[in-house]
Amino acid sequence: QKYAHRYVVKTEHFQKTLPKRSPYSHKGSFGRGLVVGGSQEMPGSLVMAVKAALKSGAGLVTAGTIKSVIETIASECIEATYLPLSEMNGYLDNDSQILLDKYDAIAIGIGMGRMDETGILVRKIAKEANCPVVIDADGLYHIKDCLTMLEKRTPPTIVTPHPGEMAMLLNIPVPELLKAPFTYTLDFAKKYRVYVVLKGTYTIITAPNGKQAVSLAGNPGLAKGGSGDVLTGIILAMTMQDQSIFQGICNACFIHGTAADMLVEEMHSYYDLMASDVIEGISKVYRTFS
Ligand code: APR
Ligand code: MG
Repeated sequence: QKYAHRYVVKTEHFQKTLPKRSPYSHKGSFGRGLVVGGSQEMPGSLVMAVKAALKSGAGLVTAGTIKSVIETIASECIEATYLPLSEMNGYLDNDSQILLDKYDAIAIGIGMGRMDETGILVRKIAKEANCPVVIDADGLYHIKDCLTMLEKRTPPTIVTPHPGEMAMLLNIPVPELLKAPFTYTLDFAKKYRVYVVLKGTYTIITAPNGKQAVSLAGNPGLAKGGSGDVLTGIILAMTMQDQSIFQGICNACFIHGTAADMLVEEMHSYYDLMASDVIEGISKVYRTFS
């Protein structure tokens, strides 16, 4: 009874709640997403999130990143559109112009680094975007000192930290967080009115209303740079397709972990699984469970 608000993400939930694609649908039916991030140092991470979002069913996805890397990454994902943003020393600059109202959901933070000017841009988007915003990776670093700003947002905010990032947001040591991850994330989600996706061997999903779920899917093949970026892309896509944000996030974690599990069972191993394989593996999950 004490844990009535908690449940485990199951295959049946996914099969039951995955939104159907109507024969009368068009790309506008599945959302227009924006991913803002990347830098000279980490252009690939952005591509993975964008590809994962498209592969999971998003209608349109735009990659917003520094001008100088667009030419390189555009050939990596020809289905996306690109929004060149201003740059300073290889990182996103705060005078970047983005028409935030054009998008149904926005993911920020991936591969963007920790430069001050980039942080100003992150906080501006979080403050002004009138749609669901997913904040990941370095984006979390940029908001850590102004979390109360999140309480003021009306549309949903989703933060997707790994334990190191969650501990940073809470300003506590990682071992402390890991003693009571359900409680820490629950308190945080309620306090700042955000959805929290605490990633790890098991991933804990918490809604601002206190509902919690744990996804058991996934394996050590995911312990490799880029896996988190793929998850963020899937979450962005599901946020735009699902009626319920919480359900959408649970389904995104199911897709991500189950893709990795199916790939390891059929053709890969914990050693060689790459984040881009996981993106391909999304097809297996949909073909098997949708
Ligand atoms: N079992 C199951 N799932 C796992 C395992 C495991 N052993 N190891 C990792 N995962 C999953 C996590 O649940 C999560 O979904 O892989 C993903 C890893 O995400 P991140 O920790 O964000 O890792 P990464 O993709 O490398 O992030 C890239 O973002 O957070 C920053 O500092 C990080 O620069 C790095 C960048
Ligand atoms: Mg990450």
